[in-house]
Amino acid sequence: MNKLQKKIVEKIQAEGAISFREFMAMCLYDKKYGYYQTRSAIGRKGDFFTSAHLGSILGRILGKRVMALAPENGPVHVVELGGGEGYLALDMLDYIAKEDLSLYQRLQYHFVEQNPAVFNENQKRLQTHLNRIIFYSSLFELNPLPSAFVFSNEFFDAFPVHLLTRREDILSEIYIGYKAPNYLRIFKEPSREAWRELEELGISVGEGCTIEVNADIEEIYHVLGEKIEQFHMVTIDYGYTQDELYHPDRKQGTLMGYHKHAAYDNVFQLEGEMDLTCHVNFDALIHYGEKYGIDPKYFKNQRTYLMDFGLFDLFQEGKEPTTTEAFQLKTLLLPGSMGDVFKILVQEKN
Ligand SMILES: C[S@@+](CC[C@H](N)C(=O)[O-])C[C@H]1O[C@@H](n2cnc3c(N)ncnc32)[C@H](O)[C@@H]1O
Repeated sequence: MNKLQKKIVEKIQAEGAISFREFMAMCLYDKKYGYYQTRSAIGRKGDFFTSAHLGSILGRILGKRVMALAPENGPVHVVELGGGEGYLALDMLDYIAKEDLSLYQRLQYHFVEQNPAVFNENQKRLQTHLNRIIFYSSLFELNPLPSAFVFSNEFFDAFPVHLLTRREDILSEIYIGYKAPNYLRIFKEPSREAWRELEELGISVGEGCTIEVNADIEEIYHVLGEKIEQFHMVTIDYGYTQDELYHPDRKQGTLMGYHKHAAYDNVFQLEGEMDLTCHVNFDALIHYGEKYGIDPKYFKNQRTYLMDFGLFDLFQEGKEPTTTEAFQLKTLLLPGSMGDVFKILVQEKN
């Protein structure tokens, strides 16, 4: 039993079964042993890759978008949510510094990342840009801004979720108990938070299906809407529309664990050592955006976004793609690749 499992089991023994959401929150964010508290988990030595680790193409395209949308005078604010190891920040800032130094000198990069374990490495990685960056451990710390380019890559898929299931027409939430040596699934009346999401989003759970519900999305949009007067927001993640995500044919939901580049269906192991993640309900992002005056403008796969917003110009500007770039292009563009699976939602508050 690792230290986090011991802590989870002790909590269950002291307080009774905990919701799956609480279990997942401990696995990912427990202050002492959580996955996104103790390690730099992404990349070759970690457990999975994101587009940010493949190379600089995505960061450069986002840099182009910042340049295209920046106000003509005064400060240019960029807010990155869940910036992780800072690769997208680095690629974007390198690109803007090279392409438009005077815009770069007006730029203020607000890097929001709650994981203390990546802080020191990020200071080194982003060394040449430190005078442009403010680091925050929570979005709540952000000062009010008149306008911003807000973006995230694989941020919403890393939230703890409620698990709900319908069996013989009874809707239940899954709680986690423990009887040595195994965890037990316990079916209870859905919690208030879970009901609120089902009702607000009009989600129905098919017979025999288990679904995940992220009840923390609203807060992000609420805080962004309160803090930033006008913004353009780009969300990059894997996920579906609500109808696709909760389709009655998708019986098992999308919850997965990743450890050392292998995928696991069984998430009740390697507590705090394995990433746990779910596909994003993009309709939930659209719904909560609209609730706070943030309107959807564009929703396509990542490949199309890259092509719509300057991928080919990147290569006309310079030389032929290098071997590394050709590999990135393949991974971002081929059917069935990351470029297909990942979606990009653009929302705006004016
Ligand atoms: C899957 S990782 C993606 C990291 C990075 N964006 C990338 O593409 O490689 C999700 C990141 O979001 C961060 N995160 C999750 N919830 C957060 C929150 N409420 N505030 C700030 N960071 C958060 C995690 O610590 C983690 O670094």
